[in-house]
Amino acid sequence: MTTVIDGKLVAEDVVATVQKAAELLRAEAGVTPGLAVVIVGEDPASQVYVASKSRKAKDCGFHSVQHTLPAETSQADLLALIAGLNADPEIHGILVQLPLPEQIDSGAVIQAIAPEKDVDGFTYVNVGKLGAGAAETAFVPCTPAGSMVLIERVRGRDLSGLNAVVVGRSNIVGKPMANLLLAANCTVTVAHSRTHDLPALCRTADILVAAVGRPEMIRGDWVKEGATVIDVGINRIPAPEKGEGKQRLVGDVAYAEAERRAGAITPVPGGVGPMTIAMLMANTLVSACRAAG
Ligand code: GUN
Repeated sequence: MTTVIDGKLVAEDVVATVQKAAELLRAEAGVTPGLAVVIVGEDPASQVYVASKSRKAKDCGFHSVQHTLPAETSQADLLALIAGLNADPEIHGILVQLPLPEQIDSGAVIQAIAPEKDVDGFTYVNVGKLGAGAAETAFVPCTPAGSMVLIERVRGRDLSGLNAVVVGRSNIVGKPMANLLLAANCTVTVAHSRTHDLPALCRTADILVAAVGRPEMIRGDWVKEGATVIDVGINRIPAPEKGEGKQRLVGDVAYAEAERRAGAITPVPGGVGPMTIAMLMANTLVSACRAAG
């Protein structure tokens, strides 16, 4: 029997723990975790993500602020906002939603965030700490951190010696995911668009993480019998069966095929997605605890 990993349920668990811890922090240290989310422009998908991050922060009892800036905002103005948030003692986490409009150098903006408030884990300090095996002092990017929680829920904490294949080498998911699996003593391969014979490589994976952003690219017969399959993809594809112009969400894995061979698999939606926001809350809480001393 294949276990369908319920990311929504696990995320609710994480959020409930964060809520309780935030209450304790307020009662014992007088500190309320503060999260600032910044969005520039009107990308509809980004607006949905940002609204749910701000809402979840409120649900956790956090001080939650959202800065919505017009699409034509200059880099200087955005950097000034970040400098203000860096200096604001009520703010423990800063998240600048990506992508940013063309006139803005995203790298410069991300690196302007104070590493101790970088709850996305994108600054070089946090990337370096994770790469150097000091993740406990860093912030780990939320999607790979959440994927790791799901993997440990189904496989236990001891992943030693397992073969892990991460398909995708982005800075946001693929690379940090590989580092987390390596830190957990997996034998890790990072595959990408130039990889030879990707299906054969995927068939070696006890843990297969798909983070390529290509709808249903990973086929069922690429999955090793009993493997744990983590699908990070969120792709919108046309769904004429739902009516003209309608869309549906699919992952990077051909779910119906893969589910027949996997030992455990995350669905899309309802798998990794909810974990990303839950880990953002957890990172913000950790930042507030560190600030409280
Ligand atoms: N855009 C898509 N995913 C993310 C994320 O994890 N963090 C930020 N800041 N922007 C994103």
